[in-house]
Amino acid sequence: MLVLGIETSCDETAAAVVEADPAPGTPVGRIRANAIYAQLGEHRPFGGVVPEIAARAHLERIDGMVARALADAGVGFTDLDGIAATAGPGLIGGVIVGVMTAKAIALAHDKPFLAVNHLEGHALTTRLVEPVAFPFLLLLVSGGHCQLLAVQGVGRYRRLGTTIDDAVGEAFDKTAKLLGLGFPGGPAVERAARDGDPAKFDLPRPLWRKPGCDFSFSGLKTAVRLAAAGLPKDDPRAIADLAASFQRTVGDILVDRCRHAFDMFRTTCGLPPDTPVPLVVAGGVAANQHLRARLADVAASCGARLVAPPPALCTDNAAMIAWAGIERLRLGLVDGLDVAPRPRWPLDPAATAAIGRTGVGAGVKV
Ligand code: KG4
Ligand code: ZN
Repeated sequence: MLVLGIETSCDETAAAVVEADPAPGTPVGRIRANAIYAQLGEHRPFGGVVPEIAARAHLERIDGMVARALADAGVGFTDLDGIAATAGPGLIGGVIVGVMTAKAIALAHDKPFLAVNHLEGHALTTRLVEPVAFPFLLLLVSGGHCQLLAVQGVGRYRRLGTTIDDAVGEAFDKTAKLLGLGFPGGPAVERAARDGDPAKFDLPRPLWRKPGCDFSFSGLKTAVRLAAAGLPKDDPRAIADLAASFQRTVGDILVDRCRHAFDMFRTTCGLPPDTPVPLVVAGGVAANQHLRARLADVAASCGARLVAPPPALCTDNAAMIAWAGIERLRLGLVDGLDVAPRPRWPLDPAATAAIGRTGVGAGVKV
């Protein structure tokens, strides 16, 4: 089974071809092509992603990326079994470009169309490379989301915890900006932190040891802003120390929340207290080596094991969308060409709005 995946929900214009056995339950796939155009040059002058510029850049690049993915895979449209595209959540201009491209290919070549939730793409990526069975505990940490979920199957998610203010990737990006480390922020903070002393700054850990497994990062962001304002000018050592202290604090927060989530996960899934639980980490922030090591430790200390996709598959890419498409196609979960792109699309639609965001539905950028 061969599926073309298209990803355009933020600032990567990406197309990929993934191959897998057609039987549901057969694990892992093979990436035949994974083409990515990162729009860094377009957005760098603004210090962040500009939605309208992103949408226009997707429109200019997407045909070329699809052609490149097919050429790299050595296949044509007629060889494909399905066309998958991110249909949300994300910046709506870009999502529309990807969905319309995929629908046009599906219509012209009479192939099934698969509208993939970008978050489900992240959630299932690990199964593309490693046979992880359902259910598993998922820590989803990206630029727009920070959630703990029980993943019970394809399309079956129960949210256990979520951030009540900012996403963890946002906190990395903001910290990079405050420290003058540039864009994109996460990898820059990780690089700077390598030379720093993680114990130098004592930063707050909101919700630390509170019941449940919700997250909060806005107080940490404010503390970094205040600490950054007090740093000596252009002192690389001080910048490295603050970056390292920030990264360690994020690690403390994630570890504490995961520790609580294991029991909630077992209760939600009706598993006995000591059942070994796979902890899967996904999303752009999961590329961070310090955080991966910290999560591996907490998993081991809670009778669990950490499963993390290779860093290149943690940040946005189209292979994860093609793979989620394969998982859905194998179950017959095909979409009509009337499916609309969605700026918001929670994995667990039954989850209530997070504290501090009353009045908006679950799956908002929280
Ligand atoms: O999953 P992703 O590529 O896009 C979204 O769906 O949001 O995640 C992007 C986020 C950005 O905030 C970026 O700074 C962060 O992931 N990120 C990292 C690292 N690489 C990317 N954060 C920490 N350490 C990294 N190495
Ligand atoms: Zn993403």
